[in-house]
Amino acid sequence: MALLRTEALTMHFGGLTAISNMDFQIDKGETVAIIGPNGSGKTTFFNCLTGIYIPSAGKIYFNEQDITDLSPDQKFRLGIARTFQNGRLFWGLNVLENVMMGMHSSHQSFLLGAIFRTAKNRKEERDAIKKAKEVLEFFSKDLLDQQGKLAKNLSYADRRRLEICRALAADPQLLLLDEPAAGMDPLETEELMQDIKRIKQHNPDLTLITIEHDMKFVEGLADRVLCFNYGQKIAEGTFAEVSSDPLVISAYLGEEEESA
Ligand SMILES: Nc1ncnc2c1ncn2[C@@H]1O[C@H](COP(=O)(O)OP(=O)(O)OP(=O)(O)O)[C@@H](O)[C@H]1O
Ligand SMILES: [Mg+2]
Repeated sequence: MALLRTEALTMHFGGLTAISNMDFQIDKGETVAIIGPNGSGKTTFFNCLTGIYIPSAGKIYFNEQDITDLSPDQKFRLGIARTFQNGRLFWGLNVLENVMMGMHSSHQSFLLGAIFRTAKNRKEERDAIKKAKEVLEFFSKDLLDQQGKLAKNLSYADRRRLEICRALAADPQLLLLDEPAAGMDPLETEELMQDIKRIKQHNPDLTLITIEHDMKFVEGLADRVLCFNYGQKIAEGTFAEVSSDPLVISAYLGEEEESA
């Protein structure tokens, strides 16, 4: 049984078809990478999966439940978490607090200024802090060491890593990463890959879909690779298969010609 699958998923924006008849599936514990030229529909696919867009047609099933029309919050509560291509942290909160913001809302009432600090409140707060520290520790000791620093004062790479920690704080079944290594140098990208590998080792059931342009990162992490072009899946297989596929090569060459 697939953890998540889509059937003929389609998303139109006016006359533009950003996702076209997409059949996709991923099993529990699998890591899938989505590659493809700019504008090929990768982020739109995530936006459909997470409920930011309601698809124009087609279906999304999660654990065989039809979730096509659910809201982002409903999908989050079912166990689908994500990061964003452009980053979305709370700049004025520190590292630990940002991780806590990723937890389910029942655990964050105190962060939103709970006035009556009941014993239950305080216990929830302690549990949340403990959990947030665990997430940071498993992902990166280096971030744990910076737990009191405001997000706005982190390095760029650490901000992107913190976003992943925030998404992990919800204990998702499915984690969607939109270009997690974008803007990182090769060393930072390699470190990020190792961090994610460690998370997967610690939690082999975690299912991961990552969009990424960095091919070393894709090769190092993905069990299976998909290439999108113009909203369609043009190739699927191992990294070696997809990266040598003539359709994939010409899709990327076409992109270079367009930007030349
Ligand atoms: N809200 C929207 N309204 C109109 N068009 C949109 C919207 N979101 C995306 N698009 C269009 O849909 C197409 C796919 O965009 P999308 O952002 O999914 O591409 P992408 O593969 O993530 O690209 P990149 O690698 O640059 O992030 C593009 O032509 C884009 O302009
Ligand atoms: Mg995108």
